[in-house]
This record gives sequence, C-alpha cells and structure tokens, in this order.
Amino acid sequence: EKKVTLTTINKKYREGQPISMITVYDYSSGLAANESSVDSVLVGDSLGMTTLGFKNTNPVTLDMMIHHACAAFRGGSRPFFIVDMPFGSYNKSNSQAVESAVRLVSEGNAECVKVEGGSPIIADRVKTIVQAAGISVCAHIGLTPQSSASLGGFRVQGKTLKSAQSLIEQALLLQDAGSSMIVLEAMPEFLGKAITKLLSIPTIGIGAGGFTSGQVLVLADILNLNMSDFQPKFVKRYANLGPVYLKAINEYAADVHHKTYPEPEVHTYPTTKQSEEEIK
Ligand code: KIV
Ligand code: NA
Repeated sequence: EKKVTLTTINKKYREGQPISMITVYDYSSGLAANESSVDSVLVGDSLGMTTLGFKNTNPVTLDMMIHHACAAFRGGSRPFFIVDMPFGSYNKSNSQAVESAVRLVSEGNAECVKVEGGSPIIADRVKTIVQAAGISVCAHIGLTPQSSASLGGFRVQGKTLKSAQSLIEQALLLQDAGSSMIVLEAMPEFLGKAITKLLSIPTIGIGAGGFTSGQVLVLADILNLNMSDFQPKFVKRYANLGPVYLKAINEYAADVHHKTYPEPEVHTYPTTKQSEEEIK
C-alpha cells in the first residue's frame, strides 16, 4: 500500500471520501494499523489511560509521547502519522509550543502534531507552530480531555446555542490560524455537520455524528482491550479482546499448575545422547 501524506488526506477531503483514523500506542498496534487500510494514525495522549493506567491524560509527558510514538512508528510508516502534544507541553508560551512540536517531529517521527482547545491563545500556538517550524497541526475542540476538569468531566459539548456558537467560532479561528485538520469530539450531529460545512479543512469526528470529513476512535475502545464496563455512546466495539487475553492467560496458568505445559516433544527441545552423556 502507498504512503498516506497530508496531500492524500486533502485529496480524499476534496473528493468527499471519508477519512479514517485510529489511535496507536505501541509497536503491535502500529504494525496492525500499518497493515490495515486505515488512512491515518494518532498517537493519542489517551495512551495515558489505555496503556499506562492513569486516571486521566494529564500526567502524560512529552517524553512519554515520544517513547510511544517511536514504538508505534517502528510498526510501519504507511499511515499519516499524527502525535498528540500532551498537557503542559504547549500551554506556557508559543516558544514552548514550538520546542515541543519540534521534538515530536525530530524525535517522535510526527508528520503532524495535535493540540487541544479553541481559545485565541491556542489559535496563536497553532499559528506559531505552523509558521515558525513548518509543522502541520491538527486542532481538537469540543470534549477536550486535557481540560475536562474545567468542562465538568467527560460530557457532550455544544448542546446549548451559546456553546454551539462558541465551538463554531473556535473552529473558524483554528482554521484561520493554519490548522490542517480539526478533531471534533462529543457534540451533537447537527453541530459536527455545521462546522464541517463551514470549514475548508477536514473535520475528524469522534462522537460528532456522520457528517464530518472523517472519523477517529480509540483502539482500546473498539477492541475492548481493558475489559471496561463503561463505553462512551459513540464507541462501536469491533472486538472483545480483553476477555480473550484473560482466557488465554488463565489457560496458560492452569497448564503450568497442572503440569500440562510444556508437553514433551511438542514444546521441548530433544536431548541428544551425547549431551546427556556430557552432563552426567
Ligand atoms: O488521545 C486521543 O486518543 C485523542 C483522540 C480521541 C482524538 O485525542
Ligand atoms: Na488526545
């Protein structure tokens, strides 16, 4: 399969073909995504929760993002490769944002970096990263997990007219700042549709309905890797791997406990007469 670039993504967008994106966190998920037909991968800071077991994404550092991005990238470079800027890595100043984005590109193989938020300050960060370093930026508005505490938790956004208008303004601001695409997370379908219609850059929805330019989901959610009882409304489960892991580990443990693993000859190297003699 051919390498997907921003040019490929933009061509799909212009032709009205949906853009697919999935999160990846490590070598095995990077490998699977690379072999698949998905257009784009995101090394999301959701890895803090799905892969590192934190309660939220706030403890994730730039070094952690680089560590995981490198592992995922070793799985293959075919999909367009986006890496999240973690909490605190772009909030202080424009120069901090440029430094962090540069590290994600030079050390983490990022072809595009993603920042959360739609305030004029964040739009200025986007503009500076794009203009000072020539790095493509994906914006992210609506439910922005890094600021979920101030949003009152993980909840749908843009339900009131005022907040819907605000999200539309944020999207326009981020487009004007030079964003290459924008993630719309957890908002009513009409709003995802309205923003997509207004913009001339691709929108990638996660819980934003069926009218965005593309869709992104969290890999651990679609596979149910973490055996979670809870799943957001927008998640579609394509596999139930958590219980599959559990069953395999339990069967292995039982085999060891009952001495039914390893089986002679099947899992055991044969002993030659000579080596037996030598050991005696
Ligand atoms: O961190 C992440 O996985 C994300 C996507 C859900 C968009 O930001
Ligand atoms: Na994220």
